[in-house]
Amino acid sequence: MRPQDLIEKKRDGGELTSGEIAWLIRGYTADEIPDYQMAAWLMAGFLNGLSDAETQTLVEEMLHSGVVLEHNHISEPKVDKHSTGGVGDKTSLVIAPAAAVCGVAVPMISGRALAHTGGTLDKLEAIPGFRTNLSLEEFRDVLKRCGLALIGQTKEIAPADRKLYALRDLTATVPFPPFICASIMSKKLAEGIDGLVLDVKSGNGAFMKDADNARRLAGMLAGIGRRMGKQVVALITDMNQPLGRWVGNAVETFEAIETLKGNLKGDFAELCLELAAQMLLVSGVETDHSVAIERIRNSITSGQALERFRMVIEAQGGNPRVIDDPKLLPQGRIMKNILSDRSGYVSAIETDEIGRIVMDWGGGRRRLEDTIDYGVGLYIHAKIGDRILMGDPLVTAYYNDESKFDAMKDRVRCAYSVSPAEPLPLPLIKEIL
Ligand code: URA
Repeated sequence: MRPQDLIEKKRDGGELTSGEIAWLIRGYTADEIPDYQMAAWLMAGFLNGLSDAETQTLVEEMLHSGVVLEHNHISEPKVDKHSTGGVGDKTSLVIAPAAAVCGVAVPMISGRALAHTGGTLDKLEAIPGFRTNLSLEEFRDVLKRCGLALIGQTKEIAPADRKLYALRDLTATVPFPPFICASIMSKKLAEGIDGLVLDVKSGNGAFMKDADNARRLAGMLAGIGRRMGKQVVALITDMNQPLGRWVGNAVETFEAIETLKGNLKGDFAELCLELAAQMLLVSGVETDHSVAIERIRNSITSGQALERFRMVIEAQGGNPRVIDDPKLLPQGRIMKNILSDRSGYVSAIETDEIGRIVMDWGGGRRRLEDTIDYGVGLYIHAKIGDRILMGDPLVTAYYNDESKFDAMKDRVRCAYSVSPAEPLPLPLIKEIL
């Protein structure tokens, strides 16, 4: 077999056999197939589609590209949560310690920023010293001691996704359900979990822009998990504006810490409570939804979830003092408001553009080898439905590169739609499947 034959087959609309997909994924993971040929195959697949059988084989091959963990040393049910990607979504940092306090073990494998969306690993690595590249032994040990462990794909676990994730990001082949399913489910199934909560984002800051496509993606993801014997619940949640108040790496970590300190107001906290409660329900440690919500709320208001987060930061080499002293997190040197040039109601926000603004100001990578300016971030003053006057701040920007300010100011203003009529409120949690 030659890679170009499989590229040609997909280019011409053919369906690859499971043997051909296996050969491609194994060859790419072993560095025998170069990026340029894999990129061509990804684009051919993106444009011509993958059948259900091809998607299922892709998931299985990517899953078995590395080890599939078992945690026989841990008696608690193993449950995780994964989001399909959004802007301002730092829920993992709150719900993993909160759920762990309530008696589930959370062996979480996350990703980096993808396209305009932020990545949990980048937010964690904003904490000085925090290591997301634990060895298998370290991962197991941290999970046992803390009830949660937070890492990325490694050469041992989900190595195919480790490479393909970065390649898709650079080749505009991210927003395609079969690839999203293979990426997410190969990581999650490798974690050795019993149950999974999926947060499928829908809206202009998500990869699925409308509810129908989000619902289809949720059905595909949940179907793959259930066929593999896992308990899965999928939520469809709104991503037509940044989640919470902060967008950027260190600032989102700060917002997660504030939430763990008991600041439970607003959409971000609402989603954290719901997702973490669903983790308790999926695991079977709780059967009643309102009791599950109360247990999660209590894990936060009692300070236990914060202490668990402190513990895992320390266990993974990070500086736990960031919890008490947020100044230890990187912060942009310059802070400036970007003001509205109109009065009215905020009726829409181009959420993907907000994500790109943070990225282009240094808060994300253009290429894999780029370093991130963790201190870049935006505080979102104006959310959808807010009434604002000309001169009111839309956002406060924290950054280091002043040369980009004027261009970014224009981009932020263009990303906001302000209209005379008050818009209808957007429900945050649209469906639970
Ligand atoms: N999250 C992932 O892990 N992979 C994707 O492709 C999208 C979101």
